[in-house]
Amino acid sequence: MALERTFSMIKPDATRRNITGKIVDRLESAGLRVVAQKRILMSKATAEAFYAVHRERPFFQELTEFMSSGPVVVQVLEGENAVLKNREVMGATDPSKADPGTIRADFAESIGENSVHGSDAPETAAEEIAFFFSGSEITG
Ligand code: CMP
Repeated sequence: MALERTFSMIKPDATRRNITGKIVDRLESAGLRVVAQKRILMSKATAEAFYAVHRERPFFQELTEFMSSGPVVVQVLEGENAVLKNREVMGATDPSKADPGTIRADFAESIGENSVHGSDAPETAAEEIAFFFSGSEITG
């Protein structure tokens, strides 16, 4: 199996509670390697552009306000089957439905403030990585 890359974001509820390192430890312990990372504050417009696919959803305003309410840590993760592995480590979107031992089961506060985002497919990963990173910022 070839190495794959995925996009990951540690959300404002997690940076606010100073648990960035705890979350990175979960990712690294699962065999994912952080090959790019930066802490940024997204504007509302940037959050709206990133989540444009959800524009018609009833929670779009709540989502983009929350995602621009505090710092996020955007990352590129590399590993075998990285997209699927990251989704397994994150757990289900709704923390009440996430498997025990996953990041969202252990850290998320609600379905909206759910500590992490991860790409849902390799094609989405490529788009989301390119949204935040230039090629020279990624060093495997
Ligand atoms: P994420 O993986 O970042 O992708 C879209 C996000 O929308 C999702 O995680 C949740 O944080 C958020 N979301 C999904 N459903 C709801 C909801 N019902 N209410 C608020 N936010 C939601």
